[in-house]
Amino acid sequence: MTTQSLSYYIWPGQVHFGFGAVELVGREAKALAAGHVFVIADPGVVAAGLTEPVTASLKAAGLGYDLYDRVVPNPDTESVDAAVIAFKESKADCVVAIGGGSGLDTAKGVRLAAGGGGKIAEYALMLGKKTRPPGRQMVPMIAVPTTAGTGAEVTPWAVITELSRKLKMGVGGAFLVPTIAVIDPELMLTLPPFLTAATGMDALTHCIEAYVSTNDNPALDPMILHGIELIGRSLRVAVAQKKNREARREMALAAMIGGIGISSKWLGACHSLAHQLSSFADVQHGVANAIMLPHQMAYSMVGALERYARVGEALGAPAAGSVRQRAERAVEAVRELNVDVGLPTRLRDVGVTEEMIKGMAYNAYKIDLNWWTNPRTVSEAVMEQLYREAF
Ligand SMILES: NC(=O)c1ccc[n+]([C@@H]2O[C@H](COP(=O)([O-])OP(=O)(O)OC[C@H]3O[C@@H](n4cnc5c(N)ncnc54)[C@H](O)[C@@H]3O)[C@@H](O)[C@H]2O)c1
Ligand SMILES: [Fe+2]
Repeated sequence: MTTQSLSYYIWPGQVHFGFGAVELVGREAKALAAGHVFVIADPGVVAAGLTEPVTASLKAAGLGYDLYDRVVPNPDTESVDAAVIAFKESKADCVVAIGGGSGLDTAKGVRLAAGGGGKIAEYALMLGKKTRPPGRQMVPMIAVPTTAGTGAEVTPWAVITELSRKLKMGVGGAFLVPTIAVIDPELMLTLPPFLTAATGMDALTHCIEAYVSTNDNPALDPMILHGIELIGRSLRVAVAQKKNREARREMALAAMIGGIGISSKWLGACHSLAHQLSSFADVQHGVANAIMLPHQMAYSMVGALERYARVGEALGAPAAGSVRQRAERAVEAVRELNVDVGLPTRLRDVGVTEEMIKGMAYNAYKIDLNWWTNPRTVSEAVMEQLYREAF
């Protein structure tokens, strides 16, 4: 047997999905033998009233909790280390995270560094560097997403920024998949149109990068294509009608599918490019992907024409013509979707300057690992070229 014939799958933990699921948080925490719960959220999520159903459910189950609301967007090592200290002081034995990827990733960081000791930076998965092993005893985690984007509720990693080197680094592994995901689209009805669009394009990027990835996980392919189809028909509606329950439900499902997809199939060059936009210029993660995705797809297409052709069709493009024409329609469909949901399409419009490009290209190629499974090989020069095209 050659290693090429081996597939490796990371499946999510338990998942509750659907309207009203949030009411189960208390019961599930209790089933995990929680005595005292550390609830993690960001200030925006607290202000939107989204922690209330969670804390109400904990109270109903007779559980005490502390609410930690100092999560920052694109969480950095300092903010995670601070949350670890607060977690230890609370003496909690279970983490419940509610929010977008930033809140969920902060909670994963807390779980990891509180369980294994040391600072979160010591767990960074970087090229050739030894990382601190996870602790034997990590507290259980319940993840409650409020954006339909990152899929962090089912993925094995957290993405944490190291400020000194302007790097977004991954921490984690199969052991860090949240113990339970509680996905309730009701909590997404408050998400404003811009963030709905941005986080939805993150989910689409996950599905597309996973679908064309060089990792071979055939059991996931039909599900990932379905995720792309869901986004193709529901993202515009969720942006246009904030309270449309069916569109929100389909987007929540697509985000979960994207998370399951990337857990095994990983990502591609689009995320390597996007991460630098956030660490250099504070661009929202989904916006960063939305801008780079059509450029990365047009470049990568020749490495997986048939797969890109099927992506186009899942997004509603006609199936006629040569495989190359069908694949090109996938790129066009993504460009159109970006415009329809009102997202910026050029780097110069989101605070990126031309002077940043060389440094970002270096980091995207030399340090960020995500391009490893891109269907077409990249180089530092290619990264620079793709940034210049998007500029
Ligand atoms: N762990 C993973 O597998 C994974 C995958 C992709 C991305 N990420 C990371 O996730 C982070 C981005 O997460 P995100 O895009 O979900 O954004 P986010 O968590 O940063 O949230 C963005 C904003 O939306 C607000 N918000 C969230 N839900 C809301 C709701 N329902 N109503 C009103 N406001 C709401 C928040 O308060 C915040 O201000 C990045 O750091 C990215 O690198 C992680
Ligand atoms: Fe992402």
